[in-house]
Amino acid sequence: MIDMGRATVVETDLLIVGSGVAGAYAALTASDLGASVLLVTKGALLSGSTPWAQGGIAFPDGDADIASHLSDTLKAGRGLSDKGISSEILEESLDHLRLLVDLGMKFDPGLALEGGHSKPRVMHAGGDRSGLMLLKFLHSKLGGRVKSLEGHFVYSLHVDDEGVTGAYAIDESGELLFVRSLATILATGGSGQLFTVTTNPTEATGDGVALGLRAGAVLRDIELEQFHPTALLDGTLISEACRGDGAILVNSDGDRFMGRYDRSWELAPRDVVARAVYEEAMNSGGVYLDLRPVEGLADHFPTVYESVLSLGLNPFVDLVPVAPAVHYQMGGLRTDGDGHTAVRRLFAAGEVGSTGLHGANRLASNSLLEGLVMGARSATAAVKELDLSADPVVDFPIPMGIAADRRAEIKSIMSETCSVVRTGSDLERGLAEIKRMGSVPSKNRFEIENANLALLAECVLRGAAARTESRGSHFRLDYPEPASTPFHVDQTMTTLSIVPEADGLSDSAVAPRSDGPDLTQEGASG
Ligand code: SIN
Repeated sequence: MIDMGRATVVETDLLIVGSGVAGAYAALTASDLGASVLLVTKGALLSGSTPWAQGGIAFPDGDADIASHLSDTLKAGRGLSDKGISSEILEESLDHLRLLVDLGMKFDPGLALEGGHSKPRVMHAGGDRSGLMLLKFLHSKLGGRVKSLEGHFVYSLHVDDEGVTGAYAIDESGELLFVRSLATILATGGSGQLFTVTTNPTEATGDGVALGLRAGAVLRDIELEQFHPTALLDGTLISEACRGDGAILVNSDGDRFMGRYDRSWELAPRDVVARAVYEEAMNSGGVYLDLRPVEGLADHFPTVYESVLSLGLNPFVDLVPVAPAVHYQMGGLRTDGDGHTAVRRLFAAGEVGSTGLHGANRLASNSLLEGLVMGARSATAAVKELDLSADPVVDFPIPMGIAADRRAEIKSIMSETCSVVRTGSDLERGLAEIKRMGSVPSKNRFEIENANLALLAECVLRGAAARTESRGSHFRLDYPEPASTPFHVDQTMTTLSIVPEADGLSDSAVAPRSDGPDLTQEGASG
């Protein structure tokens, strides 16, 4: 047994877990509405995925562009996007753009073009440092209005008859904290650390999905992981906007191959380019990005420029080796348009949630946009939950983890069995291997993250096995065509259900999982 040590209890109206774009904007909105807010993050306030976002925000280019942006979004989503919610998010995003500009946010002049967009509409800030600039701006506006706690890792939610009424956290020295809250927003980002090569930072360990699932929320389409087509071989992102500005892809034979896959060449939707890059690398031995046609590379893409230089390559002379890397979790905790999960008082915003905007293939630069809109919407809905009849009975659960040195094993199982091209037999093998991992009590953040990753890996593999079709980012060699009716794969800790897209939030097809309920926190993944 581990020593549970000392514990502190704090109270707030609204708890927000995660300090990226969705969490920070939710905090701003809720504090404007008069709620007391506590923002808790396991790292530093400016860590996580948002500061890594190079491509900017794909706001519609004015009201007249909403219909065209919606059409691009739905086309990229391959039949799994929710038209109603997508339309609302795009429309509402312009109010947030106006508010940001009124508050003093500075965007670069001009609009960038990215894959899948029928016209330039992506706004950048600080060149390819858009996410960092936006996040610094949002946190500068939070000022003293919102309390925040860095280095506190939320490892469990408190659920009672009222819903989620608090959360248990552990700090870097192992001290425990209970946050009593009237509502909780999960804004913890994605899970790229499931894979060996990812564009995501080390914090992206799927914690919010694991917390929500264990609390009773429904996970939707988690098998839909987007692979970015142009990462350096270590996962460092080379923004798609470079291709929008003229960069081209060639294989080892020097052949500019994209025209053989799509008439939009390098600016085809991301799923098409990622698969083409994967296939060409398999066939010819490698794929390279030619950045020489990009004018003003060092000024417009300083991060890309420096990353390439750090490899000892000169982007004005050399071709740059690239490969697909896991980039964005399109599925997540299923929410309605206001961020409500299936559990009362629990909301999800940003990459951790699944609103229906991204479908089976997120349109480039739609994610910061969704983070803003859903951060604001969740906060607005959450402050309506500010009444609670009884105090929660605080009882710290024992945090469970998986040994630190098994992180690499989880990643390699996922990378070998659930990558750009998938087969049923690989997925079953991956599932069997992941399920063999046992968990033990632990107060170590990295080990607890491992338990979250293993839980998520099971769900991704199980979802990918149930998705017997190819659609968007999910390509099955044994089922190369899309199913005639688009469907969602919804999972809870004990069930997996196939939900036709038109049924939206219907639970009619829920069935117990065939392999039994073995995903309790105590026995995470094993
Ligand atoms: C990129 O800059 O290519 C990434 C932007 C995104 O994923 O939306």
